[in-house]
Amino acid sequence: MKTIVVYYSNKGSNKYLAERISKSLSCEIEEIKPRLNIFLLFLMNIHLGIKPLKNNIKEYDKVILCGPIWMGKFIPPLRSFIKKYFFKINKLIFVTCCGSTNAKKDEKFGHGLVFKEVENILKDKCILCQAFPVSLVLPDDKKEDTNAFMKTHLNDENFKGEIQVLYENFIRNVIETNS
Ligand SMILES: Cc1cc2nc3c(=O)[nH]c(=O)nc-3n(C[C@H](O)[C@H](O)[C@H](O)COP(=O)(O)O)c2cc1C
Repeated sequence: MKTIVVYYSNKGSNKYLAERISKSLSCEIEEIKPRLNIFLLFLMNIHLGIKPLKNNIKEYDKVILCGPIWMGKFIPPLRSFIKKYFFKINKLIFVTCCGSTNAKKDEKFGHGLVFKEVENILKDKCILCQAFPVSLVLPDDKKEDTNAFMKTHLNDENFKGEIQVLYENFIRNVIETNS
């Protein structure tokens, strides 16, 4: 089974997660590079698509797409990747390091709605969606604190405990999808 991790990250958490996944699975990794990488324009839904990837997506059995959620949306660089490579994607796993907690996943800004959208676009090509909420690396009294999670980024220091357990389960699940 050939796998590639493809990611977009603005502040680094999804880059960290993507690199970690690629190391755990010993697989290829490539960054999605928007033609116009201007964050404020993305928020206004203005985007010019992405630059072509160096790797040939068709050669991979599985793509692990990793990136953040903003304003409850499946963000433009990730959406553009799917649009551009839809017919080359065999199977896809969507992973996000996001702000929303599992308890709030189905609310307006929750990752649950984005997962439904990804599943809707990709239908049976989508085999798994997994969230790694930033709150998992925050102390209990800061888990619902928007200010705290906006300022927190994944790194080797804080990737411990709850998030580590979730991550190991995720990697096991990904490996199981090979069989
Ligand atoms: C403008 C903005 C809007 C955001 N909106 C959401 C949201 O609606 N839902 C959510 O779960 N997280 C939201 N977040 C949190 C990001 O998804 C989270 O900080 C993510 O880890 C950032 O990833 P990055 O470090 O790879 O850029 C938002 C962050 C920003 C900066």
